[in-house]
Amino acid sequence: MKSDLNNLIIDYFPSPNGDNEQLLKLLHQTSKIICDWFAVSENLSPLPKNLTKIISEPTEFGCDIKMLLDDINSLLYSSFNPSHPGSLAHLDPPPLTISIVGDLVAGALNNNLLAEELSPSISVIENDLCKWFANKVGFGNSSGGIAASGGTLNNLNALVCAKFNSGLIFDPDASFIISEDAHVSFKKCARILGVKDENLISIRTDIYGKMDIFCLNNEIKKSKSLGKKIFSIVATFGTTIRGSIDPIYEIGNICKDNNIWLHIDGSIGGIFAISNYKFQNINDINKLKIANSITINPQKILGITKTSSLLLVDDIKKLKKTFFTGLPYIDSTEDVLNRGELGVQGSRPAEIIKLWLSLKFLGKNGIDNILSSSIKKKLLFENILDKDKFYIYSGPLHIISFEPKNMNTNQINTWSFKLKKLLLNNKIMISRPLHKNRYILRVVFGNFNTKESHIIELASFFNKNTNE
Ligand SMILES: Cc1ncc(COP(=O)(O)O)c(C=O)c1O
Repeated sequence: MKSDLNNLIIDYFPSPNGDNEQLLKLLHQTSKIICDWFAVSENLSPLPKNLTKIISEPTEFGCDIKMLLDDINSLLYSSFNPSHPGSLAHLDPPPLTISIVGDLVAGALNNNLLAEELSPSISVIENDLCKWFANKVGFGNSSGGIAASGGTLNNLNALVCAKFNSGLIFDPDASFIISEDAHVSFKKCARILGVKDENLISIRTDIYGKMDIFCLNNEIKKSKSLGKKIFSIVATFGTTIRGSIDPIYEIGNICKDNNIWLHIDGSIGGIFAISNYKFQNINDINKLKIANSITINPQKILGITKTSSLLLVDDIKKLKKTFFTGLPYIDSTEDVLNRGELGVQGSRPAEIIKLWLSLKFLGKNGIDNILSSSIKKKLLFENILDKDKFYIYSGPLHIISFEPKNMNTNQINTWSFKLKKLLLNNKIMISRPLHKNRYILRVVFGNFNTKESHIIELASFFNKNTNE
């Protein structure tokens, strides 16, 4: 690192009346470290081989900037690197360039989405973008939404709203329905909502990983006869392990007939609603307009930096009714909707800035490009994978899981463990999810930096390695 950094004196806060030359220098130096790290990513590994010992505790008198920049440098080289082309394990794509800038701007502004007077322009942007998304998923004029830090939190926001609006918020028999392949965080939601274990009803999935409608109808009948009161059915639009899409229309009609809130967890696949890319109807998340709420996580495929998640509702008044408390320490007029009163979170960073900048930067074309590339890569991999050797689990989205046909559970667990490790030693990171009591392998094709040649090589590797 350059020696002149030894003399870099940074004020505690940006100066309100100076030229902030030193801050500019610091930002430049930090950016340089980050860009240098990006530039050598491919030579490294998605996961660092060794973790540099980083001292976490502060010192009595603080340390100089050069030391901090060295720490930042060490931190980068000791971190998971989603930009590495071999990073194919999870729903954590590389950060979109413009989104990094969005985080910087949000940090500099340090506005608070709790209240309009603490984030006047950003509240408007969040409101407008949520409405735009809501229209894209087929909601009408009364619709709207809220951003929250992640899909778990937005699914929780939706379920609190569903439970409250159905009048069952304090009812001990309140229950909700998910599929067995729904995200594990719904268990957390149930605990927070005070829903008993036996009232979180899990429906079997069919051979395609979709909620089984026959089973759903039976469970509803059975639950009613046991006195359970169902306040929501959750349909998943893109399951975590196989990227399957539940039969939304059938589930929606069942919800309509039984007056039950339909929540769609589109944390993974919902983003396709803003794309023109036509593939197996994955952009028609709410074609029949029967959903009450939908979660969409732009952080998961599009590369908006974490966190970026929206909850969209058919009627914004339902969120307001659920979460409105009044903010006694905030001075606002009656016509103002403070966004801290539309969800569980109070103080909230301006995460919407990076989504706003990124969507404007990408345009429809850029969005289509990223989303379609993820599907095309998955299809390429799936086509090469030997169907005689593997059971393949993959819905229409960019996720594929698989296991060898010729092995028992123990052998599969050993096989997946060995291959995952072997690949990581060769700079390819995939995941090993527990699915129906077996540890199988999963590849997620949300990495724009992964090339066709990498995919062909990877699929051929699996075809050659089907022994325990
Ligand atoms: C289908 C689905 N829903 C919800 C979540 C939770 O989202 P988050 O990790 O942003 O809280 C995930 C996470 O992977 C998911 O796959």
